[in-house]
Amino acid sequence: MPEPTDRRYGPAPLPQPRGPVSAAVVEALRLAPHDLPADLGATLAPAGGDPLTDEDLQLTLFLCYELHYRGWTGVADDWEWQPSLLALRARAEAAFEGAVRRLVGPVPAVLPGGVPRALADLVDADDGPSLAAALQRRATLGQFREFATHRSIYHLREADPHSWGLPRLGGPAKAALVEIQMDEYGNGRLDRMHAELFRRTLDRLGLDTGYGVHLDRVPAVTLATNNLMSLFGLHRRLRGALLGHLAAYEMTSSLPNRRYGNGLRRLGLDEVATRFYDEHVEADAVHEQIAAHDLCGGLARTEPALVPDVLFGAAAALAVDRLFATHVLDRWARGETSLRDGGVLNGGTVAAPARLTAAVA
Ligand SMILES: [Fe+2]
Ligand SMILES: [Fe+2]
Repeated sequence: MPEPTDRRYGPAPLPQPRGPVSAAVVEALRLAPHDLPADLGATLAPAGGDPLTDEDLQLTLFLCYELHYRGWTGVADDWEWQPSLLALRARAEAAFEGAVRRLVGPVPAVLPGGVPRALADLVDADDGPSLAAALQRRATLGQFREFATHRSIYHLREADPHSWGLPRLGGPAKAALVEIQMDEYGNGRLDRMHAELFRRTLDRLGLDTGYGVHLDRVPAVTLATNNLMSLFGLHRRLRGALLGHLAAYEMTSSLPNRRYGNGLRRLGLDEVATRFYDEHVEADAVHEQIAAHDLCGGLARTEPALVPDVLFGAAAALAVDRLFATHVLDRWARGETSLRDGGVLNGGTVAAPARLTAAVA
């Protein structure tokens, strides 16, 4: 049965709060835009905590950022530029960006001409656990559904965060970004948009395909992978990091996507279910070259001062994704769900039970 347009394309349903700050924001967003208490963010990122896995902080950031994408059901569009909410967002961003910079550490110093090689070296040196290998060889159907649930937050708006880069660039980097994004958006064909291909994968897995409907089920670390892209995309000063982030994604996509597709085939899913992953095997073998040489190499030539930011963005993408993969594989190794279903994570609330028994369509 076709879904109503609003559920497929957004806005997203407001999520359940995960702490005092996200609770205050959710409550405020239900009302007409108004000033938030100035001290609202004071309890964000308590000393000793990790902003990258702090449920309240990551959800607060996600609540603020989504206003720049599809927005929230029943929430006034004017909240997008409400000054006190922007001030709260800035406070959360400072904690988040600081944590990401500590996680990444120093990046190698390279000349503009060395950027493509340096990006390849960062990718080669990435020693994160292989979630793709686990999904290819041994994940259960329920675990694959969990993986798709985490990824739905990004894939149902795939490419949108990096599109923030377009008006911020000129010259060769802009041309390269357009070339990549054209493929991501199916060259203007709705049925070929990567977000729509993923919607079919979700459907085949028996999962709800509505925009943002799985938000309550994914933990802070999944939100962090998304918030990182929004942070880079929404700040012009971080445009170099945004392009580095996209390059890291493109350069680590082709082989894992082959593995995801093989994993689904092993589990008996059909070519409609695997098409999203199959498409990325081919497309990203090309995108990887464009991203390293034309996109990041092009930016490095025209704005050489941004070279450290490009490498920081790439390293940040790899590091935060490594945290995500570690979280998922650790939970699975303990025989637990990697979602928030049925358990209290980091002081958060308990979400609705998993739909892991849903039939495959
Ligand atoms: Fe894509
Ligand atoms: Fe791509």
